[in-house]
Amino acid sequence: MTTPADPAPRTSNIHVGRGEPLVEITDVQKHYGEFQALKDIDLTVNRGEVVVVIGPSGSGKSTLCRTINRLETITSGTITIDGAELPKEGKALASLRADVGMVFQSFNLFAHLSILDNVTLGPIKVKGMKKSDAVALARQLLDRVGIAQQADKLPAQLSGGQQQRVAIARALAMQPKVMLFDEPTSALDPEMINEVLDVMVGLAQDGMTMIVVTHEMGFARKAADRVVFMADGQIVEEATPEEFFTNPKSARAKDFLSKLLTH
Ligand SMILES: Nc1ncnc2c1ncn2[C@@H]1O[C@H](COP(=O)(O)OP(=O)(O)OP(=O)(O)O)[C@@H](O)[C@H]1O
Ligand SMILES: [Mg+2]
Repeated sequence: MTTPADPAPRTSNIHVGRGEPLVEITDVQKHYGEFQALKDIDLTVNRGEVVVVIGPSGSGKSTLCRTINRLETITSGTITIDGAELPKEGKALASLRADVGMVFQSFNLFAHLSILDNVTLGPIKVKGMKKSDAVALARQLLDRVGIAQQADKLPAQLSGGQQQRVAIARALAMQPKVMLFDEPTSALDPEMINEVLDVMVGLAQDGMTMIVVTHEMGFARKAADRVVFMADGQIVEEATPEEFFTNPKSARAKDFLSKLLTH
């Protein structure tokens, strides 16, 4: 939890309205040509809630994440963030994107910019923040993810786990309402996975609303309020982590978990 000695910048009003719907996905369909990647998706994520999305390869997990910040359009249905429907383009879309932080499997840091500049770029360019304020915020966030000492280095000088923590700090610097993570640890060497998951668990404990695609069951058990299981573009099952991992209901989930557990 946030304590007075740990004034995380994003958390000042994070508990306001906790438990109310923040991301509402209603009857969403998504086609790529003839192929339907998302079918009849209904999902509400409440403020402060942590939802883990799990499911076999090709089930539509990344597509779902990408539609939430409109990296992908949807064919029909609605997606609202904090009551506002996703705008199609322009300034409104840029501002909505700022509300939705996204962390990918590949960190996508700007290779020619220092760690500090990677984190300050968005706040300065998109939010019009004063450079000195952006630097102060970035330093606070880099400290929070445990890499304050690396601020002046280039991305290539950092380990994968450190780079992914920079990517998290960069997303947080936009002061998003919700954070999306798409398999944030699956490109990392095993010894670096925990340092990234620890940062994510801390964020969850601070009350950040999070949608996390991951097969890390330890994270799901520790931090998730709900597990959403997808297969073939549909949400097949939703349950608490405890329920889902110990007593999956659908044959698809049982099959998936048995494969995951034997790896
Ligand atoms: N740009 C695209 N054009 C056509 N088909 C696509 C496109 N992007 C994704 N798909 C298809 O949509 C389906 C869902 O893909 P998606 O990447 O969302 O799956 P996923 O659950 O994230 O899988 P993984 O676990 O492998 O990351 C797949 O069959 C994929 O081939
Ligand atoms: Mg994916």
